Amino acid sequence: QTTTISVIKADIGSLAGHHVVHPDTMAAAAKVLAEAKSKGILIDYYVTNAGDDLELIMTHRKGVDAPEVHETAWNAFKEAAKVAKELGLYAAGQDLLTDAFSGNVRGLGPSAAEMEFVERPAEPVVIFMADKTEPGAFNLPLFRIFADPFTTAGLVIDPKLHDGFKFEVYDVIAGKYVVMNCPEEMYDLLALIGTPGRFVVRRVYRKSDNEIAAVVAVERLNLIAGQYVGKDDPVAIVRAQSGFPAVGEVLEPFAFPHLVAGWMRGSHFGPLMPVSQRNARCTRFDGPPRVVALGFQIKNGRLIGPADLFDDPAFDEARRTAQVIADYMRRHGPFMPHRLGPEEMEYTTLPAVLQKLQNRFVESKLYQVKGPKVKTELLHD
Ligand code: F6R
Ligand code: MG
Ligand code: MG
Repeated sequence: QTTTISVIKADIGSLAGHHVVHPDTMAAAAKVLAEAKSKGILIDYYVTNAGDDLELIMTHRKGVDAPEVHETAWNAFKEAAKVAKELGLYAAGQDLLTDAFSGNVRGLGPSAAEMEFVERPAEPVVIFMADKTEPGAFNLPLFRIFADPFTTAGLVIDPKLHDGFKFEVYDVIAGKYVVMNCPEEMYDLLALIGTPGRFVVRRVYRKSDNEIAAVVAVERLNLIAGQYVGKDDPVAIVRAQSGFPAVGEVLEPFAFPHLVAGWMRGSHFGPLMPVSQRNARCTRFDGPPRVVALGFQIKNGRLIGPADLFDDPAFDEARRTAQVIADYMRRHGPFMPHRLGPEEMEYTTLPAVLQKLQNRFVESKLYQVKGPKVKTELLHD
């Protein structure tokens, strides 16, 4: 018999701008999940938040993409959004893009990371939840967890990991995916996932037996909605220990606060700061982007925990570094590379501003560019 973990999240409105989820909305969502548990749809659940994102962590026996589970999540978000509207929370109902639910939350605003497996005698999982960034933010840490021997000692010294892992990379623009083996295809993999706005690590499998090791929610809301409706603050589930990287190997990449896209108005690069759950709230310049890690043991579908894994002085230095980087990046103000490049800015509110400047440009005869036409995205297309 298999157990499925579904982590489904949505921003249904928050307190004082896009800062933090209100406890009453979490309570409303938890009530719906409690009902689903009493009906036997769910085995267990845990409701939490990362900044302004409401996070539903659920276990059940119904597999990935189960309509009943997705409907439960959808109803929980609906109820939470109702409360958000009553309280006049900011951007109430933001991520619920439609009224017509049809069996699956994908494409409707919320995003989901789900994995199904046969429980090991002891089954540790780490659930990462980030705010003010995008799914590709997990590319670098997942690569380092599952393919970098300088991070994961087990790749070298544990025969159960030594064969390596397979990465399923999803092209969010084309809607296609490719599976690549590591270590053999490491350089090809990096050629793709070094562009995290487009190529996103969606799943990782252990190569020796195809066991699922990690899964990321890859929905990109702006691409779905066709306009800026907030960043696609992602979640990821990673299995750990006995044949998978140890919890400490899974957390290790986050000691380096790498630059990710998101932050203010979903339009800036900034460091991903690992924080405790209580500090998963975005203040400075609506950030900097943050990530929380909750550890659970799964037993007969029950969620034992959580352990708040970044609530540890061992990550203080990463947080301090993140603040130094935040200062440095902020001093660029509206300039790239703090502000995102033109391709990514297409999904923000910038095109509306540039549109108005369109007619101000006059033909410049004197210094026309010869040869191939220079592409000036955004402005003249
Ligand atoms: C980023 C985010 C915030 C908002 C910003 C402006 O993901 O949610 O940085 O983009 O606070 O918000 P609005 O447009 O709602 O005033
Ligand atoms: Mg928000
Ligand atoms: Mg958010």
